[in-house]
Amino acid sequence: MPATPIIIDCDPGIDDAIALLTAFVSPELDILGITPVAGNQPLPGTLRNALQICELGGRSDIPVHPGCDRPLLRAPLHGQFHGRNGLGNTELPPPAKSAEETGAAQFLIDTLTHAAGTGRRVTLCCLAPLTNIAVALRIRPAIAAGIARIVMMGGAYREPGNRTMTSEFNVLADPHAAHIVFSSGIPIVALALDATHQVILRPEHVADFVATSGRISEVLGALMAFWDRNQPERYGSRGGPLHDPLVIAWLLAPELFETRRARVFVETASELCMGQTIADWYNKSGLEPNADIVTRVDAPGVIGLLRDRLSRYAARGTAA
Ligand code: BDR
Ligand code: CA
Repeated sequence: MPATPIIIDCDPGIDDAIALLTAFVSPELDILGITPVAGNQPLPGTLRNALQICELGGRSDIPVHPGCDRPLLRAPLHGQFHGRNGLGNTELPPPAKSAEETGAAQFLIDTLTHAAGTGRRVTLCCLAPLTNIAVALRIRPAIAAGIARIVMMGGAYREPGNRTMTSEFNVLADPHAAHIVFSSGIPIVALALDATHQVILRPEHVADFVATSGRISEVLGALMAFWDRNQPERYGSRGGPLHDPLVIAWLLAPELFETRRARVFVETASELCMGQTIADWYNKSGLEPNADIVTRVDAPGVIGLLRDRLSRYAARGTAA
């Protein structure tokens, strides 16, 4: 089977970093580029973290294109649970690798225009506020023809929000961008909090991952340990939901996920409910569905898959 061409749009971010590390050792995926955006950290932080994670994972070959440094219309909003540097205060060596000159929107336009021409359409893995994707779509709507699908982490349907009562961070941070993406007609697989809260990484998983992940184990252990939200009343145990790595897991093993199609709307008017994602489960709108929303996840299957992938670093020696 030929590798699936993907672009990873992200805001590392602890869980973004784990998603990147998982993708790096998955030969089923051909990573054409990484496009950091402002999100969990201001852009300089997410860009630096992406470069550092590429080096940690031995994938300095992947181009990193700097994205938008703020949301389309709203004031910047940054992450709460990623420490002062976005990587749980884990200090990695300053990156030797540099970001590309070409910005993320131009890279998306060039790559997806080419993909539309060749028919080798690209899957966009979206782990962050959707600003980069929305800007590229607004500049060149025809790039939609070069996108196989968007697999995104974001939103909250039957689950309450994690940043406000109603809203999940990635959508709240740029609700107008999310509206543009959901209105684009591009096939979307939506991994919202409804899905990610089904996969809780508990301390025993962290210990197991650390024991098996070879040369990245120390950093991985630190990232994952910082991720422990210690909210057993919310998650049913110690630990935390993994969020972004589920996008990569869906690409590698979609059989671990159940979906339901629905029309999704994004609230952009009410301050109380800003960024809320609303699924039209019973077709009250009369509009065609625009997303496959993940409703159920095989959590042990996903955790086992991630463990298997990250353990591949054990066989890769110490060289980057
Ligand atoms: C999302 O918000 C960010 O803080 C995480 O990286 C993830 O993408 C979860 O709501
Ligand atoms: Ca993220």
